[in-house]
Amino acid sequence: MQAALRLGVNVDHVATVRNARGGAVPDPVRAALLAIEAGADGITAHLREDRRHIRDDDMTRLKAAIAKPLNFEMAATEQMLDIALRIKPHACCLVPERRTERTTEGGLDVIGGFEHLKPFVDELGRRADIRVSMFVEPSIEALEASAALGAPVVELHTGAWCDALAHRDSEKAAHEFERLRKAAAASAGLKLECHAGHGLDFDSARMIAALPEIVELNIGHFLIGEAIFIGLAESVRKMRAAMDEGRKHA
Ligand code: PXP
Repeated sequence: MQAALRLGVNVDHVATVRNARGGAVPDPVRAALLAIEAGADGITAHLREDRRHIRDDDMTRLKAAIAKPLNFEMAATEQMLDIALRIKPHACCLVPERRTERTTEGGLDVIGGFEHLKPFVDELGRRADIRVSMFVEPSIEALEASAALGAPVVELHTGAWCDALAHRDSEKAAHEFERLRKAAAASAGLKLECHAGHGLDFDSARMIAALPEIVELNIGHFLIGEAIFIGLAESVRKMRAAMDEGRKHA
């Protein structure tokens, strides 16, 4: 039987809209509760260094309000480590972060940054019992380094593949999908739980759901954008259906 494919809904951009006016609405916690009711298996939020969307109290409120796993995306900094150890989410996904980027561009440099990342993986994973995931490019070297760091989970960056699909560059899309397929297959041999995310929409989520080693997709921007037109609950339900449909072909 095929492993279940979980949907983690990223609520960052509900906070983006809220912050545009500086008030309390729309509330990312309300969005998280609604997403769970509609079928999300977990909630993801990225507390960025510049607090451009999710704020510290959002993380606290999310942890208190939701009954499903909270995935805390964070840069490997002392400040974020302190916050994560205080909030104690189910999982922490370590991501690269540059102030000038519009979103997380590219995966974590797990090879060059090995010595810097090691104490974060140890502290979060071994001491605090938080599931640590490394957000990496779909390369075997990055997976091997993640396994050597002792991280139990990797999240494959699907951005390059999704960009190629959006630009209708079928050659590049096929090449990027093959990298994802090989990386997902290799994760099993390295005993890494495999997740994927970034830039996914209904069609790309349906396609990647066919890779049997992937057990979780984390999706935000498209779902929140689609919610403007069809509502958040319907957006999540349609995503769930697309993933289930794709999984039949795994
Ligand atoms: N996974 C990770 C690690 C991310 O950094 C992001 C973006 O915050 C996502 C998934 C979701 O990407 P998107 O918002 O493009 O669906």
